[in-house]
Amino acid sequence: MSLNLGLVGCGGMGMRHAHGYIEMRKHFDSFTLSAVCDRHKAAANGVASAVEDATGHRPQVFTDYEAMLASGVHAVDIVTDTRMHHTFALQAFDAGVHILTEKPMALTMKACRLMRDVAEEKGLVLSIGEQYRRDPMNRLAKALLDAGAIGEPGFAMKVSVGGGSALMHDTGWRALKSRAGSIIIEQGVHEADLLIYFLGDIESLSAHTGLFAPVRTREGMTGQIAQFYSHRVEDAFANQETVEIDQEDTAIGILSFASGAIGQLTITNASIGYGAGINTIHGSAGTMQMPPTRTGVPPSIYLESAQEPLSQQQMLELVPDWELDEVTATFFGGTRRMGSYEVGFEAIDRILVAIEMKELASAIESNCRKVEVDAEVGMKALAVSYGILESGNSRQPVSLVDIMDGSVAEYQSEIDREAGI
Ligand SMILES: NC(=O)c1ccc[n+]([C@@H]2O[C@H](COP(=O)([O-])OP(=O)(O)OC[C@H]3O[C@@H](n4cnc5c(N)ncnc54)[C@H](O)[C@@H]3O)[C@@H](O)[C@H]2O)c1
Repeated sequence: MSLNLGLVGCGGMGMRHAHGYIEMRKHFDSFTLSAVCDRHKAAANGVASAVEDATGHRPQVFTDYEAMLASGVHAVDIVTDTRMHHTFALQAFDAGVHILTEKPMALTMKACRLMRDVAEEKGLVLSIGEQYRRDPMNRLAKALLDAGAIGEPGFAMKVSVGGGSALMHDTGWRALKSRAGSIIIEQGVHEADLLIYFLGDIESLSAHTGLFAPVRTREGMTGQIAQFYSHRVEDAFANQETVEIDQEDTAIGILSFASGAIGQLTITNASIGYGAGINTIHGSAGTMQMPPTRTGVPPSIYLESAQEPLSQQQMLELVPDWELDEVTATFFGGTRRMGSYEVGFEAIDRILVAIEMKELASAIESNCRKVEVDAEVGMKALAVSYGILESGNSRQPVSLVDIMDGSVAEYQSEIDREAGI
C-alpha cells in the first residue's frame, strides 16, 4: 500500500523536495504525494504542477495546513521557513501523522525538545532532512576515517567564507532572527552534522560571533539552485531593494570532541566580494581533504610520504568491505562501491531527498520507527550552532549538554518568547 504524503512549504526547497519525490517514484511507490500546502496558492500550484507534469498525478492544493492534515495524509514533509517547523510537527503528531522536517530541526533547542518528546510519547517517526551525510562521497569519507586511513584524527578545520553584500537565497525570512534563528544556523547545522558524523560527539566549545554586513541588497537568486526558487512568492521585505539583517552573520568557534580531537568551525556570511573554504581532517598518519558535497568528487587523502593524494583505487582498497546501502545504490543503477560519481548537481540533489523520503516510508511501514537523522542527531547538530551563538553572546565556553537540555539558552530566549514557547 502506498502511504499518503503531504508537503508543506512550497518555496525553493519545497520544489527541490518535489523533485526528490519524483525521483523516489522512479524506483519506489512507498509514498503518493497526495497534497501540497503553502500559504501562497501560487507557490503551492507551482509545486503541484511540477509533480503532475512528471508523474501524471496532481496533488491536492491547500493554503491551510490544518485542512491538509485532515485530508488523509500519513506523513508530512515540512519545508517551510524554520519558524513553523515545530508548530506544524506538533500539530501533525496530535493527528497521529509522521514527520520529515527540513534542517534545522527547529527554530530553537526548546522547540526541538518539544518535538522530540511528543514524537516519542506518541510513537511517531520524526526524521530530519539533513542530507549532506547521505552523499556517497561522504559515506566513503566516513568509511575511510573509520578504517584509520589517516590514523587517529587529531584536529579538523572547517572554514566557510562567503555571503557579504547579498541576502542569502534572496529570501526575506533569512534576515530575521525570529524566523531563522540566525543565518549562521542555515549553513552551520550542515557543517556541524558532518563534523559529528565524521569525528563523533562534540563536548564543549567557545566562540566569538558578530554582525559585520547588516545591510544586504536584494539581487535576486543566482547560482545552481536559483531555478527552484522562480515560482516562490516573497512575503518579507517584498519590493525592498535592501534589507537589514538582525542577527550574527559571522562565527568563529573552537570545538572539543569527546574523542579528544579539536576543531575550528568558522562560518561567515559577511565576506564582501570573496569566497573561500577549508575543509580538512588531520590525523596521526595523514590528512583528509573532505569532499565538497553533491559534486561527486571524492575525499583526498594525503599521507606523509606522498606528494600526490591517494588514487580512487587506493582509497577503495583501504575499505574493502565498504558499500552503499541498498536504497542509495538503487539511485546509482545498483552500484554499491564507487570512488566518485558523475550525475550533476540537480540529479544528486533530488536523489538525496529521495533517499530521505524512502527511509521515512520504510520506518513507517516496517513499524521500526528508526531513521538515521532522528531527533537526537538533529538536535546535536543544532546544539553546536546554537552553542556557538550562546558562547558568542555570553563570551563564555559552553558545554553541549547544557545547550541540549536548555540550561544555557540566553541567546535563544528572545526567539522562544516571540514564538510563544
Ligand atoms: N537541506 C538543505 O540543503 C536546505 C536548503 C535550503 C533550505 N533548507 C531549509 O528548508 C526550509 C525552507 O527554505 P526555503 O529556502 O525553501 O525557503 P522559502 O522561503 O523559499 O520557502 C518556504 C515556504 O514556506 C511557506 N510558508 C511559510 N509559512 C507557512 C505557513 N504558515 N503555511 C504554509 N506555508 C508557509 C512560504 O510561503 C514559502 O513558500 C528552511 O527550513 C531551510 O533551512 C534546507
